[in-house]
Amino acid sequence: MSTSVFPDAESLSYVDLLSYIEEVNRCPGGKRTIRDIIVRSQIESGSRILEIGSNTGFTSIEIAKLKDCSITGIDVNSQAVKKSTEILQKEPKFIQDRVNFQVADASNLPFEDETFDLIVTGGANTFIPDEQRAKALTEYKRVLKPYGFLSVTNLFYNSKIPDNLLNKMSVILGFKVKPWTKYYWLKLLLNAGLELYTYEDKKMRSRPEKVVKDYVEKLVYNSPALENAPDNIKESYQEKWFNIMKVFNENHKYLSFMAVLLRKNHTSEQQELFIEEDVIDPWNIDGQNFW
Ligand SMILES: C[S@@+](CC[C@H](N)C(=O)[O-])C[C@H]1O[C@@H](n2cnc3c(N)ncnc32)[C@H](O)[C@@H]1O
Repeated sequence: MSTSVFPDAESLSYVDLLSYIEEVNRCPGGKRTIRDIIVRSQIESGSRILEIGSNTGFTSIEIAKLKDCSITGIDVNSQAVKKSTEILQKEPKFIQDRVNFQVADASNLPFEDETFDLIVTGGANTFIPDEQRAKALTEYKRVLKPYGFLSVTNLFYNSKIPDNLLNKMSVILGFKVKPWTKYYWLKLLLNAGLELYTYEDKKMRSRPEKVVKDYVEKLVYNSPALENAPDNIKESYQEKWFNIMKVFNENHKYLSFMAVLLRKNHTSEQQELFIEEDVIDPWNIDGQNFW
């Protein structure tokens, strides 16, 4: 087979590359997070769910395995939507019937007001440009039903990250990565006028280099898209993905993720004064000690 049917690994953006080689691209906390979202948001059979930044479709398909719901995954990247649709076709018919993927932009959602019971979003929030994030949140709120939930599973920096690492992350991801903190994200979310319903955060961990190397090797060698690729092509993909994973692994030393559930309220609620230790006070977000 001619090597020209395989795109040059170096020419692919991070999102195009991961879709092409079918990296699962889980939300932080993977299935553990997805199970918690389902339990906490109390969705039922028949609920309508929207995933923002569905990428290869892992979260949407996983939700469909747990609940008989109608799930729409949107992504701004058409390559990712094509790949998620192909991956969905490998699932049994009842899962396929529950899920659909389409190209759409988070900051301009092609849905009627009050359509969804739950919106699930993870890594996409970081990808959306700074100046469009508030607009995207306004859109989420618009398409949520009253008392519907927004689930945000978002990475944030829990300590000071070296500038050169931030620069490397920016080059890989193709946008300027800033040292966004827990405070930054919480303030953004609460400014959207959503109620903080549940909040939890967990530290991520960096893995030994050998684990990263083995993972990359397996992933590239088992990639359906590269099944018939000659060794030199596989090696070029392996090298590119390993270089990215090495930087991500270093970045994980400074990362935590938050699993936040916010609710779209219909009436306003009086401030709560006496709260438990360690609970975030959403009415005094500026007065709290965050890193
Ligand atoms: C890191 S992946 C998300 C992986 C995983 N689904 C998660 O929830 O963490 C981020 C995805 O968001 C998509 N994305 C970026 N900006 C977007 C936008 N404005 N609207 C919809 N999707 C967007 C990217 O194309 C990419 O596929």
